[in-house]
Amino acid sequence: MRDIPWSKFYYDEDEKKQVLEVFETGWFSSGPKVEEFEKRMAEYVGVKYAVAVSTGTAALDIALKIVGVKRDDEVIIPAMTYIATANAVCYQDATPVFADIDPKTYTICPKEIEKLITPRTRCIIPVDYAGHAADYDAINAIARKHKLAVVEDGAPGLCGSYKGKKLCSFGDIAITSFHVAKIFSTIEGGMLFTNNEDYYKKARIIRWQGEDPKKKYYHPLVGFNYRMTDLHAAIGLAQTSAKRIAAVLESRRTGAEYYLKRLAGVPGITLPYVSPDCEHPWFLFPTLVNNRDAIQQFLLEKGVKANVSWPLPVYKQEAYEKYQHYDCPVTEKVTSSVLCLPLYFKITKDDQDYVIETLQAALEKFAHLKTAKIS
Ligand SMILES: Cc1ncc(COP(=O)(O)O)c(C=O)c1O
Repeated sequence: MRDIPWSKFYYDEDEKKQVLEVFETGWFSSGPKVEEFEKRMAEYVGVKYAVAVSTGTAALDIALKIVGVKRDDEVIIPAMTYIATANAVCYQDATPVFADIDPKTYTICPKEIEKLITPRTRCIIPVDYAGHAADYDAINAIARKHKLAVVEDGAPGLCGSYKGKKLCSFGDIAITSFHVAKIFSTIEGGMLFTNNEDYYKKARIIRWQGEDPKKKYYHPLVGFNYRMTDLHAAIGLAQTSAKRIAAVLESRRTGAEYYLKRLAGVPGITLPYVSPDCEHPWFLFPTLVNNRDAIQQFLLEKGVKANVSWPLPVYKQEAYEKYQHYDCPVTEKVTSSVLCLPLYFKITKDDQDYVIETLQAALEKFAHLKTAKIS
C-alpha cells in the first residue's frame, strides 16, 4: 500500500555537509552558523534584523513581551489557528480574544477585529494561514487607529508575499517556525524579524537568559534559554540556499497547480483561494469537504495521510473553554470541513494522481451530503 504523508522533511548531501562542518569546527552551541542563518533570513525576508530561537512558540513569546503585552491585556487572534498562537498570549497572563476568519483566505477578518477592540486591547496577531497572507493593509490601518501592536504569526507564511512584500516582514515584529513539517526546517526552530533596532536588541537578550551581551553573567532582564544551536542553524543554512528555496517553491507551486487543475469542478470540494495581492508558498493545500472525518479516515485506510489544520476553533479546545468568545460562524464551518492534501518538495505526479483518485472515490462515497461551499 502507498504511504503518502501530508508533509515530508527533505534533506540531501547539503544538509550532511553543513552538519559535518559543525562537528569539524567543534562549535555546537549558538555561534557562527546561527549568525549566518540570521543574516541570510533577514536579507531574504527584506528586514534589517532577524533573531534565531529554539521554536516558533518561543519567538511568539518573545515578540509579545517586547511589544509590551502584560497581565490582563487583550490580544486579538484568529479563532482558527495553531494552539501556539493562543498559548503565547497566555504566557503573558493576557487574554486571547478570538476573531472570526475571512471566508475566502481563512485568515483573520479585519471587520471582526474592529468589533472586538476594547480599552484593554493591546495587540493583534494575524496568522498567515497555510501560507496565505492576512490582509495587512486593513489590519495595520486598524492597529494605527487604535494604537495597537501587530505581531505577524508567519509560522506558515515564510516565502509567501503580500502586495509584493515578503511575509514575515509585517507588523512591529514577525515570527516564523522552522519545525520539521514546515517548508524550510531546522527540525525545531523559530525566528523573529523586525526593523526596530531596540526590539532586535531586546529579543537577543531575552532569548539568552536576559544577559547583557557585553557583560557575561550580568542580567538586566529576566530571560529564557530560547537559543538555537549551530547544529540546527547548519540544517537551516542547507535548507535555505538560494538554489534550494527556488527549487522547493517551484515544486510546491507545480504541485498546488496540479491539484487545482485536476480538482476544478469536482462536486463536493471547495479549493483554496489565492488573492491576486498574494503569492502563495503552499505550505498547506487546504480544501473544504463535507463529512470530513469520514473522508480523512477513508484516505488514511488507502495510505493517504491528509491533514486537518485545524479541527476546532481555539475557544472549543478544553484548555480555552473558560474564555468568553463571540460567534465565529466561518471558523466553525472551516474547522469542521478543512482537509489539507499532501504537498511537499518533490511530491510525484503519480502520488498526486493517487491522492486525487482516492479523494474522488471518497467524495462519491459520501456524496449524499451537500457541498461544503461557504457563501
Ligand atoms: C500558526 C502557528 N503559530 C505558531 C507555531 C509554533 O511554531 P513551533 O512549532 O515552531 O513552536 C506554529 C507551528 O506549527 C503555527 O502553525
